[in-house]
Amino acid sequence: MTHGDYEIVPYHHDHMDQTVKVLKLLWGFDREYRISRLKWKHYENPYSDFPHGIVALYKGKVVGFRGYSPMRWEVNGKEFKTLTAGDTVVGTNHRMKGLSIAMGQAANEFLDYKLLINFTAGSTSMPGYTKLGFGKLLEKSYWIRGPSEGDKQLEGDFDNVKILKNPDLKEICSFISRTKESDKISPIRNEKYFQWKIANTKDNYKFFSYKNKGYVVFSTQPKSQNGYVVDYAVEDVESLDNILRYIIRKKPFNFTMVFNYGVCDKLSQVLKGLNFKPSNMNWHLLIRPVKRDFVKEDWIIEGLNTRDIGNWNMRAICSDDA
Ligand SMILES: CC(C)(COP(=O)(O)OP(=O)(O)OC[C@H]1O[C@@H](n2cnc3c(N)ncnc32)[C@H](O)[C@@H]1OP(=O)(O)O)[C@@H](O)C(=O)NCCC(=O)NCCS
Repeated sequence: MTHGDYEIVPYHHDHMDQTVKVLKLLWGFDREYRISRLKWKHYENPYSDFPHGIVALYKGKVVGFRGYSPMRWEVNGKEFKTLTAGDTVVGTNHRMKGLSIAMGQAANEFLDYKLLINFTAGSTSMPGYTKLGFGKLLEKSYWIRGPSEGDKQLEGDFDNVKILKNPDLKEICSFISRTKESDKISPIRNEKYFQWKIANTKDNYKFFSYKNKGYVVFSTQPKSQNGYVVDYAVEDVESLDNILRYIIRKKPFNFTMVFNYGVCDKLSQVLKGLNFKPSNMNWHLLIRPVKRDFVKEDWIIEGLNTRDIGNWNMRAICSDDA
């Protein structure tokens, strides 16, 4: 498709070098890092065989890129696929010409996928997503807890909390299937998915388990001493409570944060009991059916309204930023 003087086409491997150049405006000056991140994120995703991206070409050269990460979900024994929208960048000389919108519209041709989800829209990208027809799924916030002296008195069954340096992913996946709520839309996390996520070029993952009854995964970012809960599966509240108590007591992180998506009733009770405080970000989780012109029915999957966060068992590990 053309957009004024520009061509908007699916990403092809031949675009790699020029895409890496444009991504400097999003991922910084380290070229090796940009190459490794593009490869990891868009070539090595276990749920697709090729990078799902759109590029904007000006006189045959890449001046804009949008990356989409495939993700698989299941509900009531049925599977469907979504694309996580992210990594939008347009060269400085080509901005405010509608290129991010034109590339976003082209993604509506990925018809193997049901929905586009965006976990990371902020003030610069929100106007574009609104224009592209994305709807709000949830106002994003996080529960946060800072270090505090009184925590030394905090009690818990710390001996049974284990830091899993080499987590047994088979066992982790068996917790997931044992504790699954089948009537909610849940991300498919299998061994390959975890192996891929652990190889993330930006975040580090730390796995904690309690008495073989559940696990919690934290992500940390370089130069940050904060830990984010990005995934968990537990048989009971006690397991969650003890892992979080252990974290508070041993302080592997400065602030401990939990995004509000994927916080079920039992986790929110634990967080309240441990003095985590909700904190607003003023950002949203956004969602849109994959289709150029969609109708109301396109939001419905397996009889569930996908615009109702109550129908999702969302996990922050699915975000392209975790
Ligand atoms: C954000 C970015 C991708 C926008 O690309 P673009 O091609 O210039 O955007 P478009 O011309 O398609 O404009 C889309 C809408 O976003 C708005 N917009 C564009 N840049 C904006 C900015 N910096 N702040 C706020 N709104 C902005 C436009 O006004 C337009 O809305 P409108 O039609 O209601 O006026 C581009 O500025 C960029 O590459 N920024 C650096 C990387 C980045 O921050 N990416 C987003 C995070 S993934």
